[in-house]
Amino acid sequence: MPIVWRDQMNVGIPEIDADHRHLISIANEFEGAVRRGAGQADELSIRSTLRQMQHYARDHFAREERMQEKMGYDGLAENKIQHAMLLRSLNDFIVLFSDGRLGPPAEATEKMTAFLNRWLVDHILKIDLKMKGKITP
Ligand SMILES: [Fe+2]
Repeated sequence: MPIVWRDQMNVGIPEIDADHRHLISIANEFEGAVRRGAGQADELSIRSTLRQMQHYARDHFAREERMQEKMGYDGLAENKIQHAMLLRSLNDFIVLFSDGRLGPPAEATEKMTAFLNRWLVDHILKIDLKMKGKITP
């Protein structure tokens, strides 16, 4: 199921919300590739999705932390820890994939979809929504 952007996901800072929409669109493009592949993704699209996610997440987390710092957000230290953990979990997943430990394509696709959804929900809904109303553009 593609992740549909909902207004409740807005943290109220345009740059951050735009970044989040972009991260979701990376996952949704993957979802599209799965659909076109009759329920499974090929190795190339898994690899390219993970690479895009990793690059964009690094940039996004850095941007978010700079903004939080500038605005004196009291959750900055905690957020840095959460961001590091998210990057580590993404990296661990990439290692699993690179080592061929995600299983055959159908299984790998399923694990990848579940991972991306959980990762995005953890990041946007569980961590970043705490910023809502605490920092303003
Ligand atoms: Fe974020």
